[in-house]
Amino acid sequence: MSETSPQRIIPLLDQRPGVLSVPLSAMANAGLLSANGLLTDTRGRQLQDLRISVTDRCNFRCSYCMPKDVFTKDYPYLPHNSLLSFEEITRLARQFVAHGVQKIRLTGGEPLLRKNVEILVEQLATLRTPQGNALDLTLTTNGALLARKAAALKDAGLNRLTVSLDGLDDDVFRAMNNVDFPVREVLDGIEAAHKVGLGPIKVNMVVKRGTNDSQILPMARHFKGSGIVLRFIEYMDVGATNGWRMNDVLPSAELVSLLQQELPLVALEPAQVGETAQRWGYADANGLHDKAAGEIGVISSVTQAFCSDCNRARLSTEGQLYLCLFASQGYNLRELVRAAHTDAELAAAIAHIWSGRTDRYSELRGSEEAAPQGDGRRRVEMSYIGG
Ligand code: GTP
Ligand code: 5AD
Ligand code: SF4
Ligand code: SF4
Repeated sequence: MSETSPQRIIPLLDQRPGVLSVPLSAMANAGLLSANGLLTDTRGRQLQDLRISVTDRCNFRCSYCMPKDVFTKDYPYLPHNSLLSFEEITRLARQFVAHGVQKIRLTGGEPLLRKNVEILVEQLATLRTPQGNALDLTLTTNGALLARKAAALKDAGLNRLTVSLDGLDDDVFRAMNNVDFPVREVLDGIEAAHKVGLGPIKVNMVVKRGTNDSQILPMARHFKGSGIVLRFIEYMDVGATNGWRMNDVLPSAELVSLLQQELPLVALEPAQVGETAQRWGYADANGLHDKAAGEIGVISSVTQAFCSDCNRARLSTEGQLYLCLFASQGYNLRELVRAAHTDAELAAAIAHIWSGRTDRYSELRGSEEAAPQGDGRRRVEMSYIGG
């Protein structure tokens, strides 16, 4: 018998998660469940924030999000015809706004890779809440294309912007993004966005212990007094590919005490219910918030879950609605949009889905209830669903 040479088989991960069809009974309720700007789930949480992923591709390969050995050129990214068009996105978004959504965030992957994304911004900027107010329209980007796109985004009606940046040291940052992208170009993007008036700008830094924790103080010093709000994010176990370990998480409490040693901070009240970040202001000599020095935020989804007032819904690039960042199943809204349902029917379907929502993964993390359901379903990737 001849021996076969051992082969290393790298399975292609099918990122397409389970999809639930929306039951017809939801549409039959169209007349009963009218959109009145108030929609709550089984835990009394009101739908307020919609995150729309416009591409599952990215030009970075951050190890905590799109590890290079998994997200190769052979990875099964979504084919073009499965993407929602801008018109389909706007039509769905209009129904969410009718149900109380006040903030829309465009995400990815990297949203600026979606061709003509500013046209989508222009369409979304026309939406109004039932009270007649404009939306809080924002976008999360890695900043690589921002210097080129900032003016067009502002002109299209984008209000503000969040830029991901994991360090100021070029070697650390190039290693984090894994495509050798320099810090300077991201800083130029932030500068360009600032100049055209896309503000307030936030900078998000995911902290991985032993990888970029050396960057906490330099980042804080750099952005202090700049008008830009720096937020430190605990590294999360989102998706199924980043090899997350608790040891890699730097708890926010530890991070805040590290900062306090050099930059005294005072706790600030939340600006809004359901906020992801806890706010800390830089203190003046009297221990009061020095507004000119500004503030930072810490997002502690691992050590201090904030599910109890989570008001966020997520729409994937191909039109699946997810009720939690850690979900393994979405609801197929694209099917409804493409099957010529009326706006009232779409609104009723959204109401039906949200009102049955029970998700609170971060609160249950590690417990029996949070364990995978044992039927082979995997959690969706953050690059697919958006951050
Ligand atoms: P602002 O309106 O600008 O304050 O934005 P935001 O904090 O709502 O959104 P952003 O996308 O900036 O969130 C920052 C990070 O917090 C994300 O990249 C995630 O790491 C984390 N995050 C956001 N929303 C959730 C959530 O619903 N659950 C969990 N577990 N983490 C979240
Ligand atoms: N943990 C925490 N945040 C993450 N992001 C992506 N993956 C993770 C993770 N594993 C967030 C970061 C990044 C945004 C695009 O998504 O905030 O800035
Ligand atoms: Fe791209 Fe953002 Fe994910 Fe990094 S974290 S790979 S920049 S989508
Ligand atoms: Fe919301 Fe799920 Fe995050 Fe909890 S884990 S805050 S329910 S998205």
